[in-house]
Amino acid sequence: MVKGVILAGGTGSRLFPLTKITNKHLLPVYDKPMIYYPVKTLVSAGIRDILIVSGAEHAGDFLRLLGSGKEFGAKFTYEIQENAGGIADALRLAEGFSGGEKIVAILGDNIFEDNFAAHVMEFESGKSESAMVFLKKVPDANRFGVAELEGGKIKGIEEKPKKPKSDYAVTGLYFYPKSVFDAIKQLRPSGRGEYEITDVNNYYAKSGKIKANILKGFWSDAGTFDSLFRASEFVKQKKLQGF
Ligand code: G1P
Repeated sequence: MVKGVILAGGTGSRLFPLTKITNKHLLPVYDKPMIYYPVKTLVSAGIRDILIVSGAEHAGDFLRLLGSGKEFGAKFTYEIQENAGGIADALRLAEGFSGGEKIVAILGDNIFEDNFAAHVMEFESGKSESAMVFLKKVPDANRFGVAELEGGKIKGIEEKPKKPKSDYAVTGLYFYPKSVFDAIKQLRPSGRGEYEITDVNNYYAKSGKIKANILKGFWSDAGTFDSLFRASEFVKQKKLQGF
């Protein structure tokens, strides 16, 4: 069974001072801690063996909150990201855990309504060396990785472009073949000094090896005051179930 990794590092600077003491992923999204939602997204997709990557400062909090995973019908493993070097840098820490197999990564601040069980099954059984990402049409694409599309295929992705080439944000759920760790080794830090997940995706886009799916349901990140508020409101109204 394909394994999952929740990337829950970073400083949460856009939510300061909420994140002065508390890690972003532990903040409430309506009635549950934020990280419960990506846990639920993975478990509902049939992924139960899950690595949680966090910064050292809050690793103990995650362990106390989530424990072994039994309560969630999952098995959790923990890994520490020593420096906040970006999302791709956090994913790098999952190499041993992946055991040389495909891996599904999700950002700890992404709230999805869709169920991904069918996609996971398709990805798992496929022999393809392609990655898979999920796009959502948004009014503020410049806040995200933005897909440039040509005939329904991803030509390339730009991270937080000033002039987005489409309205399609690349959401924080990524299906990668085992070659992802070689891809990460080839990366150089971006202008903001981080290893960008968008560069990993462009590694696959360059050779046409990335599949794009359009999300049907609600999606939001929860890393800014407005998106955190929007995510909470959605959970309250739709009664999106955490655990
Ligand atoms: C990250 C990624 C971006 C993606 C977004 C989804 O951005 O870098 O490509 O669209 O997550 O939530 P961040 O929230 O770290 O700025």
